[in-house]
Amino acid sequence: MTRINVTVDGMKVADDVEPRMLLVHYLRERLGKTGTVVGCDTSNCGACTVHLDGQSVKSCNVLAVQADGHEVTTVEGLAQDGHLHRVQEAFRECHGLQCGFCTPGMIMASVDLLGRNPHPSEEEIREGLEGNLCRCTGYHNIVRAVQFASGHLAAAVTAGGGATEEVAQA
Ligand code: FES
Ligand code: FES
Repeated sequence: MTRINVTVDGMKVADDVEPRMLLVHYLRERLGKTGTVVGCDTSNCGACTVHLDGQSVKSCNVLAVQADGHEVTTVEGLAQDGHLHRVQEAFRECHGLQCGFCTPGMIMASVDLLGRNPHPSEEEIREGLEGNLCRCTGYHNIVRAVQFASGHLAAAVTAGGGATEEVAQA
């Protein structure tokens, strides 16, 4: 066992872990952070994406011991004071999900992307999210959601909810 000290979603944790334990398993099984999901376990799908010191990483590709002394943010740590993060809101607004399995990873990758490039082009969004796979949406509404979060799209919302009209902003 190896002792680690890590901050997860703002909470400091000291723990003993097997040196071979993956970060995604540590988050889910030891800390109950099941919002971070396992899609492939082979670093292909991006469903397990979290932030390590603010940068997105695939947590099935990181050992828990590598998080020692670092800060991890999961999708469960994005909302603040009961308010969803603007990227979470954007995914909801633009219907950027169907089954939702890829969504935690997509959102974490999108937050990182917008942190580095606040106003990405569509091409830059598609390139930035290429490590995250979605089996349901065809990606179109995911791209729209990131554009929405970046302020590139303004949406008119019907009474029934949902973005129905986009207006490119200068
Ligand atoms: S579960 Fe980590 S990339 Fe698929
Ligand atoms: S919404 Fe189902 S995998 Fe993306």
